Amino acid sequence: MDKFVIRGGNPLLGTIRVSGAKNSALPCMAAAILTDDEVILENIPQVRDIETQRKLLVSMGAEVELGYGRAQHRTTISCRLLSDPVAKYEIVKTMRASSLVLGPLIARTGLARVAMPGGCAIGGRPIDLHIKALEQMGAIIVQQHGYLEARAQRLKGAHLIFDKITVTGTEDLLMAAVLAEGDTLMENCAREPEVTDLATLLVAMGARIEGAGTSTIRVKGVETLHGARHRINPDRIEAGTFLVAGVITGGDLCVANCNPAHLSSVIDKLEECGARIDTLSEDSIRVRSEGNLRSADISTEEYPGFPTDMQAQYMALLTQAEGSSVVKENIFENRFMHVQELVRMGANIKLDGRTATVRGKTPLSAAAVMCSDLRASASLVLAALVADGESILDRVYHMDRGYERIEEKLRGVGAQIRRMGNVFNSRRETVEVEN
Ligand code: EPZ
Repeated sequence: MDKFVIRGGNPLLGTIRVSGAKNSALPCMAAAILTDDEVILENIPQVRDIETQRKLLVSMGAEVELGYGRAQHRTTISCRLLSDPVAKYEIVKTMRASSLVLGPLIARTGLARVAMPGGCAIGGRPIDLHIKALEQMGAIIVQQHGYLEARAQRLKGAHLIFDKITVTGTEDLLMAAVLAEGDTLMENCAREPEVTDLATLLVAMGARIEGAGTSTIRVKGVETLHGARHRINPDRIEAGTFLVAGVITGGDLCVANCNPAHLSSVIDKLEECGARIDTLSEDSIRVRSEGNLRSADISTEEYPGFPTDMQAQYMALLTQAEGSSVVKENIFENRFMHVQELVRMGANIKLDGRTATVRGKTPLSAAAVMCSDLRASASLVLAALVADGESILDRVYHMDRGYERIEEKLRGVGAQIRRMGNVFNSRRETVEVEN
């Protein structure tokens, strides 16, 4: 089982580079199902979830090249021969975002069998809103034996109003609508940059979409889509995680290959805590802190509000801020798995339902801790970077799902971090490393 060994105390100094956004790459890879031409995606992150998406597409009959050479980080996908439109449970259970193939499969083949994604550490994660909207477009969906079976001669444009804002729900239905007969009006859509990134790819493939990135999206269905080449957005959550790392360690860090425009709510909060943040260019941000952090409340919201995917990382920072901060998690019902581990390191955090109260500043002491999900893992890495002594983080495979070679990137700016166990790499081998 992979572990990280982290000795705290070093300020992070220098330049750290952000990879492509996992949560853009996943829907964009699914979008390749919509055409029998080749789709080429660049700036793909070398993370486990991308490998899982590759396996899923290949299991359906797609050809997927995935390379991470120096100049690459590219995938070429051809879904010309989709022989088996089934997303099998063995794969879906490891990545619930597999449900992103539901809409494109129905749109392209008229048939989809997708294993119901179970819940995960942070919540039940239902996809009822995806199902409801697809049924409104004429799909007949039957749930049995843990699978969704969806059929439609051809989906029909409809007026869809999402009861709740759902990121992958918006993306799934966008991909369903682009090949539907007639027009689709989608309201109460997610406005995340990953939705806009997907829409940019779909338009490059010949789709007719207006309003992506706003709450209201209009789609005019077309008969077919063609191939395209598209560069994936930088990962705004990885960038935000690195900004917090620069602040919590009292460092002076340049976060490069990012998009500052996607980080406004995170930057505002870090400045409220007393960090100094300068946007150096359209793709880099400098963050500095000499300590003396102040408490600042957060309430997670859909984009452009403070992202739920940054809540755990920000909570680690609040343990080092003077005063009491209230953290409200409004998106998921169980996204405080990092709290007890932070408390074991010395943090003072009290939970009450979806609200956590953090009292700082508390010195953190190194400990053996357990990662539970992707962003909780990031929170524990950040805490270990300032804890007194050497922490051991277990089950860091959670981290590998969404952070590319994070131990190498952090070591490159002065962190004392090494991996024990097997490193995930693009050749899908695992090699014993202690680096
Ligand atoms: C996406 O998940 C992201 N994943 C998540 O990132 C992110 O935390 C989340 O959006 C919120 O920003 C990907 O993009 C692959 P939702 P998604 O549908 O789409 C409820 C990470 O760390 N809901 O926007 O699954 C749901 O339970 C991951 O990279 C329904 O009730 O999230 C939640 O409470 C974690 N019914 C809320 O809506 C539905 O049909 C928002 O969920 C769909 C969602």
